[in-house]
Amino acid sequence: MVISTMTIDAGVLDSTFVSRYASTPLPRNKMPEKPTTCDAAYQIISGELMLDGNPRLNLASFVTTWMEPECDKLMMEAINKNYVDMDEYPVTTELQNRCVNMIAHLFNAPIGEDETAVGVGTVGNTEAIMLAGLAFKRKWQNKRKAEGKPYDKPNIITGANVQVCWEKFARYFEVELKEVKLREGYYVMDPVKAVELVDENTICVAAILGSTLTGEFEDVKLLNELLTKKNEETGWDTPIHVDAASGGFIAPFLYPDLEWDFRLPLVKSINVSGHKYGLVYAGVGWVIWRSNEDLPDELIFHINYLGTDQPTFTLNFSKGSSQIIAQYYQFIRLGFEGYKLIMKNCAENAKSLREGIEKTGKFEVVSKDIGVPLVAFSLKDSSIYSVFDISENLRRFGWIVPAYTMPANAENIAVLRVVVREDFSRSLVDRLITDIQKVLADLVSTVAATSSLESTKNVKVAVVKKTVEETVQEITSYWKKLVNKEKTTGVC
Ligand SMILES: Cc1ncc(COP(=O)(O)O)c(C=O)c1O
Repeated sequence: MVISTMTIDAGVLDSTFVSRYASTPLPRNKMPEKPTTCDAAYQIISGELMLDGNPRLNLASFVTTWMEPECDKLMMEAINKNYVDMDEYPVTTELQNRCVNMIAHLFNAPIGEDETAVGVGTVGNTEAIMLAGLAFKRKWQNKRKAEGKPYDKPNIITGANVQVCWEKFARYFEVELKEVKLREGYYVMDPVKAVELVDENTICVAAILGSTLTGEFEDVKLLNELLTKKNEETGWDTPIHVDAASGGFIAPFLYPDLEWDFRLPLVKSINVSGHKYGLVYAGVGWVIWRSNEDLPDELIFHINYLGTDQPTFTLNFSKGSSQIIAQYYQFIRLGFEGYKLIMKNCAENAKSLREGIEKTGKFEVVSKDIGVPLVAFSLKDSSIYSVFDISENLRRFGWIVPAYTMPANAENIAVLRVVVREDFSRSLVDRLITDIQKVLADLVSTVAATSSLESTKNVKVAVVKKTVEETVQEITSYWKKLVNKEKTTGVC
């Protein structure tokens, strides 16, 4: 290892950063006056980053944490390509278009073999959902204007279980969000209630294929049936968007007969995550429209200052190309069979985890067998310890397992959730079950030790363990303070 020459400058401070290459501390919040050698900069930063959690043990996230080295190599080779320079990087653009078409076919879009699908790659589902929402809003406004009706009060219907990006869409683009409340034991949008909320100002009903909270698929087929009937009765033509962020790359492979996509006539657009079960690292989502008619032309910008005419419909301009290339790699590397095998493995591992968790006798599993491969589970008895205690204690073993409360009106249910990704192997599943058992035993003995200490001291203090409701209240008021009364589940 080469030890570099150091530039020593006494003036800069903070002993937080330590390296054998540099004895001069760096300022924490101000740009240093002088350059640092590249190896010193590397060592300082990589040393500090060690304190981050291990992504592979982060069971909170759906987002891909492992890819093949060949794909890592391709991504590094493309790291300096700005995706938006389509004229300069026409092959990258072509790969994006191929991905859009592959996904559209996977979702049964009504396009002929020689036709081109309508869709775009995004930085994630949030951008994809903003674009889909904007298209619905603009279409609805155009129709209302043409009919000479007011168009200033658009609304959108979702379940209370939607991811926060839907709330962002509603607030940023001034659309009222009408949420179908949940209830104990039913943690997804009820299609009957959703259709009841639809009125002439509804720009669309958004269903989720793979609820973020429990992985459960919402019943898009029933929603399509009920909405078709309501549209016939009222003369409206309220459409459906499917947020298939997690389920879009699960259902076609594991449940091909489940009708949730463009096979249903009212489904006009679908978003899906490249960086979740699309199996690419963070930074890619997709939105596909049923047809050209569903994407109002005035939302598409045409720029030509980079060379040729470029149609764009995105919220941002520049972005990396690596994720698009990686998505294409996964599609051709795995093919339908490869994706199917991986999703099957994930489902098998989720089943094994579910069984292990049930065997402890302490939990009730709230996720369903059919859905995104994850296990969401609540405590049968929270009088001694809570799911939040379990989550905190699992950190000792390196596991990151989120605990959270359900949204309105099921806030009294608190759950732990483990997402099973491709790299969460069966041996890790077994290890996690063992560690959960250890945590449960430790929590019981800690409480017992505390009680006996208190009784020997003869102090009249009861071991007050909070009930779930009390913990929920505490957490809710904490978050409310932080986000000014806005809902957040803190999971993605
Ligand atoms: C159902 C659903 N929609 C949207 C999102 C937001 O996705 P992204 O993080 O890619 O913006 C998530 C994230 O977990 C999700 O689960």
